[in-house]
Amino acid sequence: MKLPGTVAWTEEGIRILDQTLLPAEVVYRVLETIEELEEAIRALRVRGAPALGVAAAYGLALALRKEKPADRAAFMDALPRARTRLEKTRPTAVNLAWALARCEERVREEKTPRVEDLHAALLDEAHRISEEDRLLCERIGEAGEPLVPDGGSVLTHCNAGALATAGIGTALAPLYRAWKKGKRFEVFADETRPLLQGARLTAWELREAGIPVTVLCEGAAAGLLASGRVGLVLVGADRIAANGDTANKVGTYGLALAAAAHDVPFYVAAPFSTFDPGLPDGRSIPIELRAEEEVTGGRAPRGVRAWNPAFDVTPARLIRGFVTDRGLVRPPFERRPGGRKRIG
Ligand code: MRU
Repeated sequence: MKLPGTVAWTEEGIRILDQTLLPAEVVYRVLETIEELEEAIRALRVRGAPALGVAAAYGLALALRKEKPADRAAFMDALPRARTRLEKTRPTAVNLAWALARCEERVREEKTPRVEDLHAALLDEAHRISEEDRLLCERIGEAGEPLVPDGGSVLTHCNAGALATAGIGTALAPLYRAWKKGKRFEVFADETRPLLQGARLTAWELREAGIPVTVLCEGAAAGLLASGRVGLVLVGADRIAANGDTANKVGTYGLALAAAAHDVPFYVAAPFSTFDPGLPDGRSIPIELRAEEEVTGGRAPRGVRAWNPAFDVTPARLIRGFVTDRGLVRPPFERRPGGRKRIG
């Protein structure tokens, strides 16, 4: 199974697969400045919580390389400025802020006065975050595989696959793992309004992997669940609060309500970097509001307003369990599962 490389570091800059062009075109872009990366994140050229963490970590390395600080003091001065800029690009996915904080902490731990060593430490930490994410996805795949019904159907929302991570995905990882083990099943992918991550991205990567996929308008999901054809709902997450309330792509909450009404198991798959134990519950998760034109553009009469939250919060009571790199877990999450900053 060949999956795309979503984010990578090159000598020229950060190489991303431009997800706004999929599935029509597979175009890689090299981002050479922090401004280009900010634009790419805001425009969802690179997207999905774990991939945002990896991209932001490389973004710090990129920004500092361009800035060319003369000494340690100038480096330490420039670092939080770049961090704040990147943090502001998308507020809901905690992986982004988590990766930036981790990179800054790593550099502060380096006591060297040599600027080259600080650059090397920053880049090394970004590579570690990327490689760890790849491993975390594998572990999530292993942990979630037993949930996948052989001969049945799985429903997912948005894209929490290879395109959203540095590995085989979070919600899609158990599906890839199960398929490789010989289980056979069908995936229903919610189209995911308004930017169609399900129809464009999830459908594309599952098809590339040879897994049968059927796209539906998310408005059809409740009816599909009522029909009894779906054995499992599996979604990703952008931020999970201490009590288990989970922010994910808008529409996830409605899907969880419908799954509960029809007694279909609803699971969230996420690595430890998506947990935010500092937030007691979902009420304090910042929800990104996006441009009205994403909803109205070319469809609603001119002048009609739109409310366009990119995410919603699913209450923990609707979530049967969390598929993590540490196995299946349940709240409360007083610390990140495993209590770690780093893997291992
Ligand atoms: O706005 P997006 O496309 O970045 O939203 C992505 C999601 O909601 C994903 O489900 C989530 O980030 C998990 S990705 C492994």
